[in-house]
Amino acid sequence: MSKRDSVVLSSQEVEKQKDKILEIKHLLSDRKNKKAFIETYGCQQNVSDSEIIMGMLCEMGFKKTENKDEADIIIFNTCAVRENAELKVYGNLGALKHLKLKKPDLIIGVCGCMMQQEEVSKRIKSKYRHVDLVFGTHSLYSFPELLLRVIKSGSRVIDLLDTEGHIAEDFPVKRQEGPSAWVSVMYGCNNFCSYCIVPYVRGRERSRDKASIINEVKNLANEGYKEITLLGQNVNSYGKDLDEKIDFADLLNEVCKIDGIERIRFMTSHPKDISDKLIDTMAANKKICKQLHLPFQAGSNRILKLMNRVYTKEEYLEKIEKVKKKMPDITLTTDIIVGFPGETKEDFEHTIDVLEKVRYDTIFSFIYSKRGGTPAAVMEDPIPMEEKKENFDRLLDVQDKISYEKNKVLEGKVMKVLVEGMSKTDQSFMTGRTEGGKVVNFKCDKDMKGSFADVKITEAKTWSLMGEIIK
Ligand code: SAH
Ligand code: SF4
Ligand code: F3S
Repeated sequence: MSKRDSVVLSSQEVEKQKDKILEIKHLLSDRKNKKAFIETYGCQQNVSDSEIIMGMLCEMGFKKTENKDEADIIIFNTCAVRENAELKVYGNLGALKHLKLKKPDLIIGVCGCMMQQEEVSKRIKSKYRHVDLVFGTHSLYSFPELLLRVIKSGSRVIDLLDTEGHIAEDFPVKRQEGPSAWVSVMYGCNNFCSYCIVPYVRGRERSRDKASIINEVKNLANEGYKEITLLGQNVNSYGKDLDEKIDFADLLNEVCKIDGIERIRFMTSHPKDISDKLIDTMAANKKICKQLHLPFQAGSNRILKLMNRVYTKEEYLEKIEKVKKKMPDITLTTDIIVGFPGETKEDFEHTIDVLEKVRYDTIFSFIYSKRGGTPAAVMEDPIPMEEKKENFDRLLDVQDKISYEKNKVLEGKVMKVLVEGMSKTDQSFMTGRTEGGKVVNFKCDKDMKGSFADVKITEAKTWSLMGEIIK
């Protein structure tokens, strides 16, 4: 068996799981109107996994619901990246206890990144006895088989495969409503940034075959999707593990050829791997949105080294300059960690300096959270939390001003917006995104959902734009 054969789930295994789906459908056929609820924590990779789980549940005869209280099965798809994310899961899981008491037939499952950590699954096993099913990211595709065991035996099933994880094709997917879809191009991460749990819970990098990705995107185009986001922890590593000679820029070019898909986005890129070829491909291709999410995490070279990010502040800024030169109107976003072990005020000034030099449109910032088992967890950290919080607040102040200023210059401009649906905060407005991914709220016919509209920006806010449709 070649290495690739052990990565890609065999068609026999896929068929076996599909048989289990049918068996469940048959077993539960007398329970009419069954509903399934999935709560997804964490990143888009989890969102994408939840779409696969919901796809399986729908094939079993469940209908998707947004209301926990009416569900017959509840799945929590968890994230382990920061302690806060984990605490939220424990809290919400505890709250399900009385739902289960009221409704003993309710099936409760927990999956995702947290479950790949032994101490977490042990805790769920001993303290959360109302949970029927536990499975990690590496056993995602065995969900039908595991659920069948729960249904048949009526007892708890805890499955934690300690493998490197697989790629499985051809499972049904139940996507979120709207004109945009997520398409995973690779899974896992090899970078081992010293603070990060992801490589431990998601396994090593593995790329999907080009043909499978192209096939999926073609199907999405036929279904009417207009925008896709190619997904991976580090998309610029795409293809490195494949026999076919292909890199991420080549893949982007292939995806651009697909009729019907008008906007292509991707995330996330690691600064060390963003090549000139990729920048040129972005600049040359009209379908590739001029938007780049390029996490820098910290500005100080001393901290970057401790983080194992393998680039310096200067190298990062050089890449950004190249990007801006080729695509002057590009929307830039980033991730930042404040308060990495030992980050001094002087170190932190370099983070502020990067913000001011790059002038991002939006940032995603986090206070460092200790993750057991990672190298950073044992680094000395004499910096008090109070100081970290002060730095964090200052970061937000600096960025809010920049975000607002960058939005302000768009006032009066007409922008092409892909209408996603009704605004969640004010239902008299519709909402959509610009090419750069900025949210615009405006009034228009509800049936514009899924189409492009020319919208004049009337008011800039820090996080979004207000506009009016140009007839
Ligand atoms: N693969 C992506 C995203 C990984 S997780 C990347 O490399 O950019 C998303 C973000 O969470 C990271 O970019 C980082 O900013 C943040 N993060 C990861 N581990 C963290 C930790 N232990 N504490 C605080 N933030 C963390
Ligand atoms: Fe985590 Fe670094 Fe991998 Fe991103 S690149 S997932 S931050 S280890
Ligand atoms: Fe969280 Fe797992 Fe994503 S740890 S950030 S859900 S890969």
